[in-house]
Amino acid sequence: MLPLLHSKKLILYIFKLNVRSMSERKLHWERVYETKGDLEVSWYQEVPNESLELVADLKLEKTSAIIDIGGGNSNFTAELLKKGYSDLSILDISAKALERTKEKIGSIASVDFIATDILDFQPEKQFDLWHDRAAFHFLTEEKQIQQYVDLVSNSIVSGGFFILSTFSTSGPLKCSGLDISQYSKEKLESMFKNTFELVQSFETVHATPFDTEQNFIYTVFRRR
Ligand SMILES: C[S@@+](CC[C@H](N)C(=O)[O-])C[C@H]1O[C@@H](n2cnc3c(N)ncnc32)[C@H](O)[C@@H]1O
Repeated sequence: MLPLLHSKKLILYIFKLNVRSMSERKLHWERVYETKGDLEVSWYQEVPNESLELVADLKLEKTSAIIDIGGGNSNFTAELLKKGYSDLSILDISAKALERTKEKIGSIASVDFIATDILDFQPEKQFDLWHDRAAFHFLTEEKQIQQYVDLVSNSIVSGGFFILSTFSTSGPLKCSGLDISQYSKEKLESMFKNTFELVQSFETVHATPFDTEQNFIYTVFRRR
């Protein structure tokens, strides 16, 4: 057994390591959005058609509470606003990304902008739809992934929906220079099976703004 002094030092060291990796993650994304325009990042879509078509299929009320996780510089929420949805939130680790999206959307629209690491998010309400394109796959540690699974399970109303899009097993191994986790339909279904039933899934190729291709999987889950 470690002497008391040593175990205290060890706890402090682990705490510092955690804080450092958290802020490094944030710093990475702040730097990306400070230095790169929309057309200089691989994930950008002028119109996120796949996500919007999936939302349309769900036939939600226009007052449904919808959150875009890792929304970044996506036009997803702006497009939903145009369609008349009124209870919209965007969460991202990067305050700069949210600032840019706020400018694009304009100040008249009432969108809830939440600048936080998803792993620190403590929602004040449950959502009818939780949308995540290309944020979840940046979680690569088992513990973080389980934390996200628990969070999303507790944050969606019964009967509500979860649209999750990640790199597929034939997609890239990295994004923005960071390691990612790839997923198959079977893996996602099994990860979320305790609280969600799979409604549909498909794979698709995203053409990046610089004409390369990335394989994505889209899944739609329904909260039991
Ligand atoms: C590849 S981009 C995708 C952006 C957007 N969802 C889209 O489809 O265009 C990943 C986004 O997730 C955000 N992100 C990465 N890790 C995050 C975390 N731990 N918590 C919250 N947001 C995160 C990044 O800042 C970035 O905006």
